[in-house]
Amino acid sequence: MALPSRSQQTAVDKEGHQWWQHAVFYELYPRSFADSNNDGIGDIPGVTSKLEYLRWLGVDAIWIAPMFPSPHVDWGYDVSDYYNVDPDYGTLQNMDELLAKAKQQDIRVLLDFVLTYTSDQNKWFQEAKSSRSNPKRDWYIWRDGKGPGQPPNNWTSLFGGSAWKFDPASDQWYYHYFYPPQPNLNWRNPEVEKNLFDVTRWWYKRGVAGFRLDAVDVMYVDSQFRDNPVVGTDKNAFGDPVEREIYDKNQPELHGVLRRLRKIADENNAVLIGETWTSDIDQLRKYYGEHNDEVNMPMDFMFTTINKLSPADFRKQIQWVDGSGGWPVYVLSNHDIRRVYDRYGDGQHNDQIAKLMASLYLTLRGTPVMYYGEEIGMENNDPKRPEDVKDSMGKAGWPKEKGRDGERTPMQWNAKANAGFSAVAPWLPVGARYKSYNVDIQKKDPNSILNYYRLLLSLRHTNAALLEGKYIALNEDDPNVLAYARIYQTKTVLVVLNMSGVLQKVRLDLASKDIHAHPAKTLLSSFAAPKQVDVDEISVEPFGAWVGEIQ
Ligand code: GLC
Ligand code: CA
Repeated sequence: MALPSRSQQTAVDKEGHQWWQHAVFYELYPRSFADSNNDGIGDIPGVTSKLEYLRWLGVDAIWIAPMFPSPHVDWGYDVSDYYNVDPDYGTLQNMDELLAKAKQQDIRVLLDFVLTYTSDQNKWFQEAKSSRSNPKRDWYIWRDGKGPGQPPNNWTSLFGGSAWKFDPASDQWYYHYFYPPQPNLNWRNPEVEKNLFDVTRWWYKRGVAGFRLDAVDVMYVDSQFRDNPVVGTDKNAFGDPVEREIYDKNQPELHGVLRRLRKIADENNAVLIGETWTSDIDQLRKYYGEHNDEVNMPMDFMFTTINKLSPADFRKQIQWVDGSGGWPVYVLSNHDIRRVYDRYGDGQHNDQIAKLMASLYLTLRGTPVMYYGEEIGMENNDPKRPEDVKDSMGKAGWPKEKGRDGERTPMQWNAKANAGFSAVAPWLPVGARYKSYNVDIQKKDPNSILNYYRLLLSLRHTNAALLEGKYIALNEDDPNVLAYARIYQTKTVLVVLNMSGVLQKVRLDLASKDIHAHPAKTLLSSFAAPKQVDVDEISVEPFGAWVGEIQ
């Protein structure tokens, strides 16, 4: 399928949509994608070598999880230098090559901008820590304790324990929402803003097309450092009290930073994706900005909390986000969340369910952000023994919390040793089923999950109703089937997803939505469906997906 080349694309289409609203994004974990020099670690030249594959699949933009120099306490989410590439992954020259080759393939490259905190090995923190009077001291958040051995308040770290670490040399505590070696930056200090903004300018100049903004919800904390209220008496997986995080999260000041960051992005025709965890739709709405001038693509993580095939729950969530006024960016999977195969699979129909979830994810209004390996039905490969755990979250939380290694295992390219990822044993073990779940084999099988994804992506790129059309929920009382229409001008696409394990004969109630019920043409289905379908009764196989267009 030929897409118009980037130079032919106008800035906005006639609906006012910009390039990123029609693009398919793909998150890849550089450590696990492809290893070019056979040291067991994925790297930037590895990514470059797979651009052709990504283009073949139908990907328009990649988001690379952090590839900056890092001590890897949190696998790159602890940045020690924003102006370089970690030697594990290559060099700046390798990045430039990737950017140049990606441009040739019409693939845009986004980086992961870890702007809320740095590594404690970052020279900024080293300076800040060196003395209370160091000019960079205030770049981080330092406080006196409540008393000897007592942290300044009750805030806890997401990875367990107090969010404050004592520094005996200066007799003060510094704040870290995540691991202790990830000190939070003090965004109330204008120097911090200036320096971090400069990082984005520098990378835009090199050719990156935007950033995924990491952990924006915890960029600011309460200026009075008030204790969070404790909820009940239960403890979490780390043995800490459960808190209502009203003072260490979602502080209103962060929106000013996002607006200013967006301005720089706009000047560079770049896009900002936000790691925006929210608990309700109003919070999510705020991230778009009052005048759509903050994060272009705030991700809806509430979608990830629906961990069963529940049409009612999906309907409700889609209705909220779709009706929020912003351009939807649902999240289905990423490097922090168990893979679709495990979250929704029933153990028997997992391939069907993988196609079903792809059909849902890629036919909704909005911009999808795929996660590497989902397109071949990779499953979680969780560590079995504590000594194998690589993710500090799993080390701290074992055995209740095994961490996120399972969803970060090497991409499965072929049936050869180490799934073709590397010639040597990779940093995390390859999934057990790689001999049949890999790119090579699935490319050749017309019924594979991979080829199903490819067809879906090509449909999404070419069908105006899927690109531009509004979302209309259908058959809203059906407990087994999630059905909706996407309508643009005279085009109506219907999507019927059987989320149950039994055959469903679906009578679409189109009249109540003012849609004329002509026969429909099948565009794509995950089972053998007739070419022409009578919308009065569509038979959809167990966990089957059907996408059609009204004639
Ligand atoms: C973000 C990343 C996650 C990381 C965390 C703390 O949430 O997505 O992987 O562990 O930040 O660094
Ligand atoms: Ca390597």
